[in-house]
Amino acid sequence: MVSGEVSPVPQHVAIIMDGNGRWAKERGLPRTMGHTKGVEAVRRAVRAAGDAGVRYLTLFAFSSENWSRPEEEVSDLMGLLRRFIRRDLAELHKSNVRIRVIGDRTSLKSDILPLLLEAEETTKGNSALTLIIAFNYGARDEITRAMQQLAQEVASGRLTPDQITADLVTAKLDTAGIPDPDLIIRTSGEERLSNFLLWQAAYAEFVFLPDYWPDFTSETFAEALRIFAVRERRFGGITAVPTAVAG
Ligand code: IPE
Ligand code: IPE
Ligand code: MG
Repeated sequence: MVSGEVSPVPQHVAIIMDGNGRWAKERGLPRTMGHTKGVEAVRRAVRAAGDAGVRYLTLFAFSSENWSRPEEEVSDLMGLLRRFIRRDLAELHKSNVRIRVIGDRTSLKSDILPLLLEAEETTKGNSALTLIIAFNYGARDEITRAMQQLAQEVASGRLTPDQITADLVTAKLDTAGIPDPDLIIRTSGEERLSNFLLWQAAYAEFVFLPDYWPDFTSETFAEALRIFAVRERRFGGITAVPTAVAG
């Protein structure tokens, strides 16, 4: 891209993948079937984002509040993530996709954490799409952990309170080094954030789509990008700022 040229493609798209349970219920199937189908939609989303020239794709896969679901459903969701990494890591690596995981790792079982670390380690040199998996992620938890780190640094004398800036807070979040999302998509018709990227979403555009997540296709993704492309972003100013400038 010519320097200074404006691209209507968002640099960072984040998706709240919602509606697996309702998709299954409408078909008289167990909720798990919706989650299983949802994994296929994940593959379609990764491909569509890469094809569109999106640089960062964040997928909300399991929230810190999802532990309150029935034990069996939680264990099915854990199993699906394990299987996804085992089956798809090689292919993602071949496609030059870099994987990052955000969320609290400390309470993850020993059968999942090493897989996530392996996925990050294997793909750390890749330079096409960065796929950020939000797993056991909650924004309030993320911000709290960042505050605890800063408080530790102040307590130990390495930092003074006035040295705490918005940039420093940003650097302590799980998303350190990742640009803020330009576009946040939520499927299933719900219109809420559910504790997703609260700090990073300050100037994100929101697109709420009626489709349940298992029905998500490259066309659904294209539709969201079309809606995004005609939004006027102002960032607090009075004139439109281009939707996104490709990095
Ligand atoms: C999204 O689908 C998947 C996760 C939250 C893990 P849901 O399971 O929330 O589906 P609905 O909202 O009950 O339809
Ligand atoms: C948000 O969806 C979490 C994920 C997509 C992983 P939920 O289905 O958990 O959100 P609520 O409970 O409807 O707000
Ligand atoms: Mg839901």
